[in-house]
Amino acid sequence: MAQLNLKNKKIVISAGASGIGWAITKACISKGASVYLCDIDRKALNKVKNHHLFNRRIFISEIDASNEIEVIDFFKLVKKKFKKLDALINNIGIAGPTGTIEKLQSSEWENTLHVNVNSHFYFNKQSIPLLKKTRSSSIINISSGAGIMGFPFRSPYAASKWAVVGMTKTLAMELGKYKIRVNAICPGTIKGDRMKRVIKDKAKFTKISSKKIENEFISMASMNSWIYEDDIGKMCSFLISDDAERISGQIIGVDGNAIRLD
Ligand SMILES: NC(=O)c1ccc[n+]([C@@H]2O[C@H](COP(=O)([O-])OP(=O)(O)OC[C@H]3O[C@@H](n4cnc5c(N)ncnc54)[C@H](O)[C@@H]3O)[C@@H](O)[C@H]2O)c1
Repeated sequence: MAQLNLKNKKIVISAGASGIGWAITKACISKGASVYLCDIDRKALNKVKNHHLFNRRIFISEIDASNEIEVIDFFKLVKKKFKKLDALINNIGIAGPTGTIEKLQSSEWENTLHVNVNSHFYFNKQSIPLLKKTRSSSIINISSGAGIMGFPFRSPYAASKWAVVGMTKTLAMELGKYKIRVNAICPGTIKGDRMKRVIKDKAKFTKISSKKIENEFISMASMNSWIYEDDIGKMCSFLISDDAERISGQIIGVDGNAIRLD
């Protein structure tokens, strides 16, 4: 197969300054795309600025992706710089609290749903007019294994990620006639800082050792393996590329065949 080519493609990535979003940025940049990323974390954005890849093809903005006014202002900058869009990656999503519903605070539930679902609505709403300006474009929503399975002690997160799947399926139907493809990726257990925090919180809540919980997470995949941020970057760059030009409405696991999440 020929090398994937994203030359001249213009891409927006939410929460792109670290973790999976940064891995997606690197994958897209290495294949020739230009990326406008936003993030709330100034330190992480400064790291991006100092990265050797930071050149004319990466643009950054500091915003809270869950604040609609800030998202509207961000897209004014995107429009000025890019004029049109080839892809939107809705990557923003927080882990939310760990606990049973009886114990969780309503505010924790509301905040998780707000950040993980409303922000995707804001980004989709602002990007669709720009995506329509391209002959063939695409939206990728980052859901989770928790968007296709239950996830004990993480009900706000699971509910938010199932919502992302519902939005993906519906948008794919609404936007097909404009040749805008909409897919979701469901990453498995990713090796990185976020899973370290999730494992620590679960260990505290269940009083089981972190090592045991880590091994349990890994064993939930038939391939008995961690998933890496770069695996998600590679899947995104494929879905954005012309090689995926008739793939839409799909919920794609990148999870080593995760068969449970508990
Ligand atoms: N890490 C995993 O194991 C895993 C598994 C499945 C799905 N996911 C999903 O993948 C996506 C990325 O996950 P990650 O592990 O890279 O996340 P992360 O927790 O490492 O955070 C990534 C970035 O999000 C930014 N961010 C947080 N709140 C923000 C806000 N309000 N506005 C703008 N930026 C904000 C952070 O500053 C950070 O740079 C999320 O949607 C997550 O739910 C992650």
